[in-house]
Amino acid sequence: MIPAYVGTEGKVPANKPVAVIDAGGTNLRVCLATLNEQGTAELSHFSKQPMPGRDHELSADEFYQVLIAALEPFQSAFDSIGFCFSYPATITPDHDGRLLHWTKEIKIPELVGAHVGAGLVAAMEKRGFAKKNVVILNDTVACLLAGLAEGQAFNASSYVGFILGTGTNTAYVENNANIGKLEGYLGAGSQVINVESGGFTSFHRGPYDHQLDERSENPGAHVFEKTISGVYMGSITLELLQALAQEGAFSDAAAAALSIMNDLSTIHIDNLSAENGRDIDVLGEDVFTAADREVMKTVFGAVVDRAALLTAVNILAAVVKSGAGQDAAAPVCVNIDGSTYYKTFQMPEKVQGHLQSMLEKHGLRIRCVQVEDAPVVGAAIAALTTF
Ligand code: BGC
Repeated sequence: MIPAYVGTEGKVPANKPVAVIDAGGTNLRVCLATLNEQGTAELSHFSKQPMPGRDHELSADEFYQVLIAALEPFQSAFDSIGFCFSYPATITPDHDGRLLHWTKEIKIPELVGAHVGAGLVAAMEKRGFAKKNVVILNDTVACLLAGLAEGQAFNASSYVGFILGTGTNTAYVENNANIGKLEGYLGAGSQVINVESGGFTSFHRGPYDHQLDERSENPGAHVFEKTISGVYMGSITLELLQALAQEGAFSDAAAAALSIMNDLSTIHIDNLSAENGRDIDVLGEDVFTAADREVMKTVFGAVVDRAALLTAVNILAAVVKSGAGQDAAAPVCVNIDGSTYYKTFQMPEKVQGHLQSMLEKHGLRIRCVQVEDAPVVGAAIAALTTF
């Protein structure tokens, strides 16, 4: 429950360029962004590369140098940077973020505990950039802000930003009554909260969840994320397949092949389940019979079923906590982002199916929206409204 120090009120200046850094779980994207009068983002100087520190360990300075190299070609075109940082960070009232710990298997240990914005400002100054302002925000907070324009158009009573991608998390708006209890700390008005819902622990986990957790970069942490997000669903499936192989659920050749596999990407097993003709990597090898592949699909389907149910519970919890959404004419605007949500076979249908019955039971109304490039749009809004 991390206060974001951004509000949901106030006008976003149009046609003013700001730089955006989007440090996501898989990719690092950098660009210059301008929002037009309708709130649509126009992006230029766009660059995209794998998120540094994912494949091998980096120093803090190496990380900043990657960011600077991407910003340098258009450094004179902006004064402010909206830095969408998709990791748990305490946000300070001066809009910086102190990294609590890495998630999604990123390895830049020097940055843990550091103020990421101040580090970037110092590195830019050292490199001779003119003075820049940096606002750090979580990607779910960016996602929530990116939904404002659509939500205002349908009279939304509150906003939720939810991400199911490489990682998972939720942001919602704490209402004024509760904010009042924190008076003197947050001040009056609404406050967006980064829930870090991937860190939720009060649910039942099975033996293979524990096994996967122990083998991860951050054992014991972010265990909810490890049951539903894209970076882990393939790995859980592999744990299950290997256990089933020992119980004789596969042909001998398949069991032998599975026993030496170290990794199974969510994308490959998902492509197999969806029968979409895309890359299924080793799962396409001759050692696996058609019957073996059917077992794999069934197991992955169960992993997705569980993820869909938990995702629906997660979204419902944010809506309940917002205290809004009781009136059919003013639903809560839930902006959903993330490739795991949209691209996993049957995930959106399954999540929406669960959500519908849960919302009905609670008498709550929501409208789910999708905004293109939500993290970039939200980070641009934060930069434009903060400085
Ligand atoms: C991070 C969150 C982030 C989420 C979605 C999680 O691993 O802890 O800060 O919002 O992934 O990207």
